Amino acid sequence: MINRAFLARIRIGPLDRKKHDRAAFSCGEERLDNFLRSVAARQQDDDHTRVYIASLDDGPAIAGFYALNAHAIDAATLPPEQRRKLPSYPTIPAIYLSVVAVAREQQGKGLGTVLLADAFKRCVSVAGQVGAHFIVLDALNERAARLYRELGFVDLPGHEPRMLIKMAVVRKAAGK
Ligand SMILES: CC(C)(COP(=O)(O)OP(=O)(O)OC[C@H]1O[C@@H](n2cnc3c(N)ncnc32)[C@H](O)[C@@H]1OP(=O)(O)O)[C@@H](O)C(=O)NCCC(=O)NCCS
Repeated sequence: MINRAFLARIRIGPLDRKKHDRAAFSCGEERLDNFLRSVAARQQDDDHTRVYIASLDDGPAIAGFYALNAHAIDAATLPPEQRRKLPSYPTIPAIYLSVVAVAREQQGKGLGTVLLADAFKRCVSVAGQVGAHFIVLDALNERAARLYRELGFVDLPGHEPRMLIKMAVVRKAAGK
């Protein structure tokens, strides 16, 4: 059930290691929690990733987050009908959506969908300056994969749980 009052208080901005309480965050998936607690800030400092935090009223508690980094898709992993329409380079430029996670107590209120919409807008903006043909991700479970399919992501046969969506499709969905 979408909780509009909750979503109206959500602000999304870059991870600030001095402000955001990373230790308290738990989404129920230990690998994602550990990434935020122990790895994300360091990787961000070193330009390996950019982490975006959703918080209530811009406070220190983390309601959810996502992370993006530059990526190159091995063209050989794409189905032949996709490859035919692409330049014949060994890799295709993309943006990797490495994590989307919402704190356990805030799940099911619509924040995951809001985070994905924010990630889409950001990717379109980035792709306006540095070419990126796809957004790519690895779905953590089938329920998450269903959500991504609803948004237009397609499975990469033989490379599951990898899924991708063309930037042109995202741009259209984002109304840009
Ligand atoms: C997946 C997740 C980010 C969704 O965030 P959310 O705020 O709960 O999502 P929303 O309220 O916007 O709901 C949108 C859809 O997310 C999916 N979803 C909700 N909870 C989920 C969960 N625990 N696991 C997987 N998908 C979930 C459902 O498809 C839901 O649609 P539905 O309510 O019609 O079934 C969040 O539940 C989460 O962090 N889960 C644990 C970590 C995870 O699985 N991350 C996915 C990485 S690929």
